[in-house]
Amino acid sequence: MESLVARAGWWLAALLFAVFMFANALDTGFAVHMAIFALAALAGLVISLRKTDYKLAAAGIKLPTDQSRYDDDLVRAGVILTTFWGCVGFLVGLVIALQLSFPALNLGFEYTTFGRLRPLHTSAVIFAFGGTALIATSFYIVQRTCRARLAFPALARFVFWGYQLFIVLAATGYVLGVTQGKEYAEPEWYVDLWLTLVWVAYLVVFVGTIVKRTEPHIYVANWFFLSFILTVAMLHLVNNVNLPVSVFGSLSYPLWAGVQGALVQWWYGHNAVGFFLTAGFLAMMYYFVPKQAERPVYSYRLSIVHFWALIFLYIWAGPHHLHYTALPDWAQTLGMVFSVMLWMPSWGGMINGLMTLNGAWDKVRTDPIIRMMVMSIAFYGMSTFEGPMMSIKSVNSLSHYTDWTIGHVHSGALG
Ligand code: HEM
Ligand code: HEM
Repeated sequence: MESLVARAGWWLAALLFAVFMFANALDTGFAVHMAIFALAALAGLVISLRKTDYKLAAAGIKLPTDQSRYDDDLVRAGVILTTFWGCVGFLVGLVIALQLSFPALNLGFEYTTFGRLRPLHTSAVIFAFGGTALIATSFYIVQRTCRARLAFPALARFVFWGYQLFIVLAATGYVLGVTQGKEYAEPEWYVDLWLTLVWVAYLVVFVGTIVKRTEPHIYVANWFFLSFILTVAMLHLVNNVNLPVSVFGSLSYPLWAGVQGALVQWWYGHNAVGFFLTAGFLAMMYYFVPKQAERPVYSYRLSIVHFWALIFLYIWAGPHHLHYTALPDWAQTLGMVFSVMLWMPSWGGMINGLMTLNGAWDKVRTDPIIRMMVMSIAFYGMSTFEGPMMSIKSVNSLSHYTDWTIGHVHSGALG
C-alpha cells in the first residue's frame, strides 16, 4: 500500500509541476509541451490507481512475478508502435517529396511548410521508427541471450513509455516551430533533459539485465547494443550543451559557437549514423540472422574484430560532413582518411552476416524473412562502400549539394 501511495504521489507531483510550468509559460510551444507533460502524468496517475488490486494491497500481499518467463509486454507494444511510427514517417516522407515538386502542397500554413515537415520526417523514421525498434529488440534479445528476465521492470516501462513521450514532444515541437536548428538534434533543452533521464534509465535496465544473466558469456549482440546506448548518451550530452534563455521558455543558445559548433554537431551527426543506425541494427543482425538461418554466426572472431574497429574509427569520421568549409584543412583530411578506413570494418559486418547464410542459401528462395535480411545486409554493404567514396574530398565536391547524398541516406537507412 505504501508503494502505491508513493507512486501516486510522484505522479501527482509531476502533474502539479507540469501545470505550474504551463501556467508560467512564455511561449506557445513551451505551453503546449507542458500541457503534454501534464497529460502524460495524469495518464500515469490514473493507470497506476486503476491497475492496483486494492484487496491485495491492503493486505500487504505482493504477487511474485513468474521468473521462468521472459518479460515481453514492452516488446509486443514496441512491434505495434514501430509499425505505426514507420507508417507516419514514410507518409510524411511522401508529403515532403511531393512538396519538392508541388510547393503549393504547403497549403499556406506555417505548420506544414517543408522546413518543419522535413525534420518531422527524419526524426519520425530515425528516432521514432528506428528507436522504438531498437528498444524493443534490445529488450527481446538481451533477455534471451542472458537467459534472464528484464532487470528493474518498472524502470523498463519508464524507458519505453518515456521514450514515446520524447517522440511526441519532438514531433509536436517541429510542427510548432520549436527547434534548436541542429540536424537530427532539433528538440529544445527541456526535451533533451527528458531524453537524458530516459536514456540513463535505459542503460541501467540493460546493464542490470546483463549483470543478472545466467549465461556466462555476453553474446556479441549485447556488445553492439551496449555501445549504441553508451555512445548515444555521450553524443547527446555533448551536442546539447545549451543555455536556456528562461526556464519557462523553449528558446536556448548553444555553448559551442562557430566552426567548433559545426564540428561538434557533425561529430554527433555522423556518430548518430554510426551508433544509432548502425551498431544497434548490427546487434539485431547478429541475433536474428543466425536464428532465422538456423546456422551459427560465420566468424565470432570477425564479429569482435569489426566491433572494435567500428567503435575506434566511426568517432573520427564526422568532419567529412564539413568538407570545403571553415574547418581546418587537416581536420577535413583526418575525417576523410578515417572514413575511407571505415569501409573495412563495415564490410567485416556485412561479410559476417552474409556468410552466416552459407549452407542455408536455398532459404532465400523459400523464406521471405531471410530474403529481406539478405537485401538489407546488401544495402548496408553498398552504402558503406558509397559513404567512404563520398567522403573523399574531390568526390564530395561533386556529390555534396546533390541528391546523391539523399540517395545514400535512403539506401543505407531503408536497407
Ligand atoms: C516512403 C519512404 C520515404 C520517403 C518518400 C522519403 C522522402 C524523403 C524526402 C523527400 C527527403 C528530403 C530530401 C531533400 O531535402 O531533398 C528525405 C530526407 C531524409 N530521409 Fe527520407 N524518405 C523515406 C524513408 C526514409 C527512411 C526509412 C529513413 C531512415 C530510416 C529516411 C531518412 C531520411 C533522412 C536522414 C533524410 C535527410 C537527408 C539529408 O539531410 O541529407 N527516410 N526523405
Ligand atoms: C562507412 C560508412 C559510411 C561513410 C564513410 C559515410 C559517409 C557519408 C558522407 C561522405 C556523406 C555526405 C556528407 C555531405 O556531403 O554532406 C554522408 C551522408 C549521410 N550518411 Fe553516410 N556514410 C556511411 C554509412 C552510412 C549509413 C550505413 C547510413 C544509414 C544507415 C548513413 C547515413 C547518412 C546520412 C543520414 C547522411 C546525411 C547527413 C546530412 O543530413 O547531411 N551513412 N555519409
